[in-house]
Amino acid sequence: MSLLQVKGLHAHYGKSHILHGIDMEVPEAAIVSLLGRNGSGRSTLLKAMMGLVPPTAGSVTLDGQTLSGQRPFDICRQGLGYVPEERLVFPNLTVEENLAIGVQKGAPGAHRWTVEEMYDYFPRLRERRGIRAGYLSGGEQQMLTICRSLLGNPRVLLIDEPTEGLAPRIVDVVMEVILDIGRRGVAVVLVEQKLTIALKVAQQVLVMGHGELVFLGTPAELDAAPDVRRNWLEVA
Ligand SMILES: Nc1ncnc2c1ncn2[C@@H]1O[C@H](COP(=O)(O)OP(=O)(O)O)[C@@H](O)[C@H]1O
Ligand SMILES: [Mg+2]
Repeated sequence: MSLLQVKGLHAHYGKSHILHGIDMEVPEAAIVSLLGRNGSGRSTLLKAMMGLVPPTAGSVTLDGQTLSGQRPFDICRQGLGYVPEERLVFPNLTVEENLAIGVQKGAPGAHRWTVEEMYDYFPRLRERRGIRAGYLSGGEQQMLTICRSLLGNPRVLLIDEPTEGLAPRIVDVVMEVILDIGRRGVAVVLVEQKLTIALKVAQQVLVMGHGELVFLGTPAELDAAPDVRRNWLEVA
């Protein structure tokens, strides 16, 4: 059985029906890239899994435990981590204080992360540990947001467009970190606009269109499916 299972998931914003019955599975320690054009429903799917947008039908289970219907905080505590598109830092707290808030002792998770490991991933954050997060660059805030989520020791980490707006050098660092997270046994669902990156890091690729899954396969299979790329990914 897969670690994370999503079955027949629907979600609405008011009367707008956004997710139309999503079925997906995330195996233990797998990196799954979730692709699609803007507005296809990728962020809504992550939010529905987290309970931030309560699903109107369907279920989300983690290791056999039903998450759907629970509050985001409880879902997080059971091992689903989330890095939203908007960078979430406490601007008036230092880098170190932001990290300290993220630390969960005794939480589930394949790996118990430490603040030192976060500084090893992103030495720039170590250099700036005493600086208030509000003074960090966008890229540094993105790193800090990822670290805070990791320190909660998730079993599955949902990451929404982590490289958006980052300099190419930082994009490479973030990608290396995502690969390392997978090597340590944490599963990752990655929403990533840059196709080359999404295909490079993932073992499995899902493509969404209009709130439905329109493709499921390996990166090689997507590479060999120009019609899927043309119809659902490339911007006309
Ligand atoms: N808070 C919201 N209220 C109403 N509609 C929304 C909201 N957020 C997103 N949508 C709509 O839901 C659809 C899917 O959006 P989203 O999940 O953000 O797509 P993606 O992340 O793939 O770009 C879009 O049509 C978008 O306009
Ligand atoms: Mg989005």
